[in-house]
Amino acid sequence: MTTTLVTGGGGFVGSHLCDSVLSDGHEVIALDNFGSGDRANVAHLREETDFTLVSGDVRDLPDLDLPVVERVYHLASRASPADFVTHAIDIALTNSEGTRHVLDYAVEADARVVYASTSEVYGDPEVHPQPESYNGNVNIRGSRACYDESKRFGETLAVAYGRRHGLDVRTARIFNTYGPRMRLNDGRVIPNFVTQAIENGEITVYGDGSQTRSFAYVEDTVGGIRALMETEGLAGEVVNIGQDIETTIGDVADLICELVGGGEIVTQPLPKDDPSRRRPDLTRARQLLDWRPTIPLEDGLERTIEYFRGQYPEDPNR
Ligand SMILES: NC(=O)c1ccc[n+]([C@@H]2O[C@H](COP(=O)([O-])OP(=O)(O)OC[C@H]3O[C@@H](n4cnc5c(N)ncnc54)[C@H](O)[C@@H]3O)[C@@H](O)[C@H]2O)c1
Repeated sequence: MTTTLVTGGGGFVGSHLCDSVLSDGHEVIALDNFGSGDRANVAHLREETDFTLVSGDVRDLPDLDLPVVERVYHLASRASPADFVTHAIDIALTNSEGTRHVLDYAVEADARVVYASTSEVYGDPEVHPQPESYNGNVNIRGSRACYDESKRFGETLAVAYGRRHGLDVRTARIFNTYGPRMRLNDGRVIPNFVTQAIENGEITVYGDGSQTRSFAYVEDTVGGIRALMETEGLAGEVVNIGQDIETTIGDVADLICELVGGGEIVTQPLPKDDPSRRRPDLTRARQLLDWRPTIPLEDGLERTIEYFRGQYPEDPNR
């Protein structure tokens, strides 16, 4: 049994990660400032003796007096494009200053770390699919830069701590992940489409819908992140985690209409800096972790829609 710190443990991916680590019999401390997370995501864990929720900010970590742990999953960071506009400085500092404190804490505790990076480090990629060796095409001054560049800096810091302090830190470049516990007003494509379909039957597709994404169900992503943590001999490694089946945004919109049982697609101009294609090269994940995503989009969407319907008690289809 180990003790594990999950920063961002009250968020979407973080709360599923807490569930997964706890279900293997480990002790979990979740640290979250609930900026974009929700206490409801971990409410079911309140009675668990092995679960502790700490309300706090990673930027204040030195003042939080956290116990020594063996494992740190560092997920704390807003991740929704809607927040890139309203919380740009908060995001940039969480991923730089906050990550520095998390890494210092891990050095002190002699803990192993998984740093949650993102496919956004590839920007609008000129290489398809994206292997970990691709250095990306990021607009350093664009509307997504507060997130993309600070996550890139976080990776740089992780590598530097590995070299300077011998810290065992592994980096997960997470690609689009969806599932239950995403915020209704999250601003990411699947919650957008699902809530629009449930609320008023109109789904807004930006551009002509031919841009692609590769959507991983959260259970798959959590499995990959945990394999990255627990596989021996991977200090300093970076691995893409996500789904490598590419789907057009138009097809996702159609599938959601079908599963929700209605909905009309309307189009709007494509926002600036929105990448046209994203798909991970998962060769390293398969080779190093012996891991691959297994949950088909339709199954994952069904579970997600069921969760979102539960957030609308007045939904006539329930
Ligand atoms: N979901 C995805 O598709 C995706 C893709 C790539 C990377 N990621 C990464 O995974 C992590 C989790 O993302 P998510 O989708 O669950 O988003 P989320 O917003 O649901 O989770 C992030 C959590 O971090 C917390 N947080 C933010 N800033 C904090 C701070 N300064 N101190 C303490 N807590 C803070 C939020 O309150 C929230 O609970 C993020 O690091 C994100 O960059 C997610």
